[in-house]
Amino acid sequence: MTDHKPPQTAVSLQHDNLFASPLGKVPGFAFDQAVVDVFPDMIQRSVPGYQTIINLCGELAARFVQDDSNCYDLGCSLGASTLALRKQITQRGVKIVAVDNSAAMLERCATVLHEDTATTPVELVEADICDIEISNASLVVMNFTLQFIATEKRQALLEKIYAGLNPGGCLVISEKLLFEPESLNQLLSELHHQFKRAQGYSDLEISQKRDSLENVLIPETLETHIKRIRACGFNSASPWFQCFNFASLVAIK
Ligand SMILES: C[S@@+](CC[C@H](N)C(=O)[O-])C[C@H]1O[C@@H](n2cnc3c(N)ncnc32)[C@H](O)[C@@H]1O
Repeated sequence: MTDHKPPQTAVSLQHDNLFASPLGKVPGFAFDQAVVDVFPDMIQRSVPGYQTIINLCGELAARFVQDDSNCYDLGCSLGASTLALRKQITQRGVKIVAVDNSAAMLERCATVLHEDTATTPVELVEADICDIEISNASLVVMNFTLQFIATEKRQALLEKIYAGLNPGGCLVISEKLLFEPESLNQLLSELHHQFKRAQGYSDLEISQKRDSLENVLIPETLETHIKRIRACGFNSASPWFQCFNFASLVAIK
């Protein structure tokens, strides 16, 4: 198990300075072409533990993926999780279905996957993850995507994932978390901002990005996530990684 670096392609080297200049009225965050162009740099420098979580999804794939089944990467962006799964899947007859509703993300994702030499087939699907069918799944990863789904739609989405998972199948959910009481939330937010400063983001970039994500990224508490997962019928659920206010949970059917 190694904490290797992401592949360094021309795509992944573009520096994120989208929020570096004063923007006046900050627009709501969107996964558009400008974000696509800087996305690998943005997510690496914004989410503590990101690469560790992605890499370890590959380890979960090695363990949980079943022969002749499907894996789903929900909110695949540029395919980082799909690449990690692909690297570790040796099981037979497996297909990865990678889904995103941003055409710009999927177009770039196709280029990234084209450069990859792993052989597990990947189907790229441009769709809302709330609308797709999930079937014969042994592993579903939803890394940093549920937080962008309207809260009232989250239960139905998880129920659909549960229904589409085979017995013994695994769901990975990685999210930004909210904490209670507010003083604890404040502490973990400040630690996160300190992490971002250490990654080279200025206070202006941090505050404009935060404004941009307001009402777009809706975090929930760990308890809310676990309660929802258990209400769907999953046998077990637990966080397996946390750094500041970011965590990854694993749930087994
Ligand atoms: C933070 S990124 C996910 C990062 C990616 N999973 C990774 O680990 O590199 C969130 C992604 O979810 C996608 N997304 C947001 N809402 C979606 C929806 N309702 N259906 C499909 N994709 C969605 C966005 O376009 C974006 O690419």
